[in-house]
Amino acid sequence: MTLNGKVAIVTGSGRGLGLAYAAELARRGAAVVVNDVDEEAAAGAVEAIRGAGGSATAVVAPVGPARTARELADAAFDTYGRLDVLVTNAGVLRDAVLWKMSDDDFDTVIDVHLRGTFTCVREAATRLREQGEGGRIICVGSPTGQRGTFGQTNYAAAKAGVVGMVRTWALELRKAGIAVNTVIPVAATAMTATVPYFAAAVEAEERGEPMPGFFRRDLGFGTSDDVAGLVAFLASDAAAGITGQAIGVGGDRLQLWTHPEPAVTAYREGGWTYEALHDSFADEMGPLRSVGESFPPLPDDLRRPEGRAGR
Ligand SMILES: NC(=O)c1ccc[n+]([C@@H]2O[C@H](COP(=O)([O-])OP(=O)(O)OC[C@H]3O[C@@H](n4cnc5c(N)ncnc54)[C@H](O)[C@@H]3O)[C@@H](O)[C@H]2O)c1
Repeated sequence: MTLNGKVAIVTGSGRGLGLAYAAELARRGAAVVVNDVDEEAAAGAVEAIRGAGGSATAVVAPVGPARTARELADAAFDTYGRLDVLVTNAGVLRDAVLWKMSDDDFDTVIDVHLRGTFTCVREAATRLREQGEGGRIICVGSPTGQRGTFGQTNYAAAKAGVVGMVRTWALELRKAGIAVNTVIPVAATAMTATVPYFAAAVEAEERGEPMPGFFRRDLGFGTSDDVAGLVAFLASDAAAGITGQAIGVGGDRLQLWTHPEPAVTAYREGGWTYEALHDSFADEMGPLRSVGESFPPLPDDLRRPEGRAGR
């Protein structure tokens, strides 16, 4: 099997996308350190992986502090003798529009996603460098970090920060043969279940029916299992040359994101005074860039009353 003999840590893998990643890595032969703050969910994930013939052990601890990162790496080495793959998936949402977002909402999301990714990757990179056999680090971004979303200041900051760190780590860890990439998933999970726009897709999943093609193709919105294949691929030897990338996947859609780069460059001898900008900004810079994601209108048969939201 593709990942035979490899050992992976997947944070936040008690349910949702993390569980799908852990199960897929195990199905392909990796031993998995499952992590979650929810003890029951972590135990359930380990049971499911073992029940399917895989190897897994659980670490119940909150991602964020450095001590959890150490616990996770220790579990990989103490239980399975090595580490090959880290997937930093754990996440929470505390949505509120900027003027209603509390310090606590901001800090909680930054702590889990941004600090949690930093502490886990720092620990894994240290241990992988000591091991000296390369490795794979797969971090998790979001369309919100790429484009911005109304009501998600904290989450946008964290997820944009993850992509920024990944670009830096790809440079820093290249010599050690450690590939670092961001996966940008979109899938029906507890996190997306309350978004009214996705209600018809989530309902279909709950009934065990295939998701409507509009969601899978036009929106790139599918199941957690649809994302797991990319994680397994990036964890494999086949993906050794892929590093520093942000790769989006969901439903039937796969996307390679650009990294920010200057879209228009203009020069003026002596520099850009207020007057020069006033006179020529529009001509020099051309049309401005859009922000936010743009969603196509839902076909009539997939519209749900707003009341379906917030379950
Ligand atoms: N679902 C999507 O469409 C989508 C889109 C973009 C990004 N993401 C990202 O994918 C990841 C997983 O999302 P999901 O939709 O599966 O969410 P989810 O809420 O279904 O699952 C998240 C899991 O992380 C666990 N968790 C929360 N805080 C933790 C912590 N501090 N330490 C350890 N575990 C913790 C939760 O208990 C839960 O089991 C997140 O990073 C999320 O931001 C999801």
